[in-house]
Amino acid sequence: MVTLHDIRPLIGTELDEFEVRFRASMKSSVPLLDKITYYLIKRRGKQLRPMLVFLSAGLHGKPGDSSHRAAALIELLHTATLVHDDVVDETYRRRGFFSINALWKNKVAVLVGDYLLSRGLLMAIDSKEFRLLELVSTAVKKMSEGELLQIEKTRKLDITEEQYFEIISCKTASLVAACCASGASSVGMDEATVQKMWDMGEMIGMAFQLKDDLLDFGAGEDIGKPIGTDIKEKKMSLPLIYALQQSPYVERKKIINNIKNHSKEPEVIEEVFKFVKDKGGLVYAQKTMTDYREKGRNILNELPESQYKKAFNDLINFVTERNN
Ligand code: IPE
Ligand code: IPE
Ligand code: MG
Ligand code: MG
Repeated sequence: MVTLHDIRPLIGTELDEFEVRFRASMKSSVPLLDKITYYLIKRRGKQLRPMLVFLSAGLHGKPGDSSHRAAALIELLHTATLVHDDVVDETYRRRGFFSINALWKNKVAVLVGDYLLSRGLLMAIDSKEFRLLELVSTAVKKMSEGELLQIEKTRKLDITEEQYFEIISCKTASLVAACCASGASSVGMDEATVQKMWDMGEMIGMAFQLKDDLLDFGAGEDIGKPIGTDIKEKKMSLPLIYALQQSPYVERKKIINNIKNHSKEPEVIEEVFKFVKDKGGLVYAQKTMTDYREKGRNILNELPESQYKKAFNDLINFVTERNN
């Protein structure tokens, strides 16, 4: 299995410098903010998005200052959305530890998310990175739309496969697409190439969220955040949507009613886990995930062989093999 350690060496210098810049980009003289950003840096995630930016830059040129600004802006935005997402999802564990809302409450978490977002935007404006801002703002707009579309669907519990793909395309794939596009743009690539990289990122992002949704059904290992949260919050992801489709009306009605009225009860979550597994929902979602991944890989394969291409291939495999 591929690990991030296999991929890191090629972009090690970039990632070390990223660390320094990322920390500096959050710095504040407000003591509470400084305490929280210190905590966020200590409890950092996989940093997949900065890796995607640097690898995408490396596929087409030499990662430089602009690539660094893209990586920092995107990781700031990503962190902001996770801080907000845990408020929205009422989740108290993130990256193996307490979430910001668990430690400092919702009010603070909402404001910290806004702070991170504005710091990212200001950093890009200071350097007149307008193309980067355009790519990333498109993604952020889509992310909010995706999360709201999702909330609308959780109220009605009537989501179709097609609507699920629309939601994950907006809430997750768009930012992954922005990573790949801005990486290419940061080394001066033309619009056609930037668009191609966006399309590739979109496919990888879809596979990434499908994996995240599969992990929520419990793979047996600690994923650093609670499992079963999607059912608890009445979010129907592909494994469940498919399982429901495979079931006769009465059974479908029963599961939907249980989710509607008792989704926070551990026994109901267990029941849904079992139902989804028995109906082949996990297998179906895994297959769909692999299809998206391979669509992304096909675009990558159009590029000439290089060390970056090899590392990119490894990263694509990591997205669907990971356990956290
Ligand atoms: C989690 O993203 C949120 C989703 C879009 C599914 P990551 O799994 O990349 O989170 P971190 O940054 O590694 O914690
Ligand atoms: C990712 O969806 C939403 C974002 C775009 C932040 P999830 O709600 O499934 O993310 P996790 O599982 O909490 O990380
Ligand atoms: Mg969540
Ligand atoms: Mg999730």
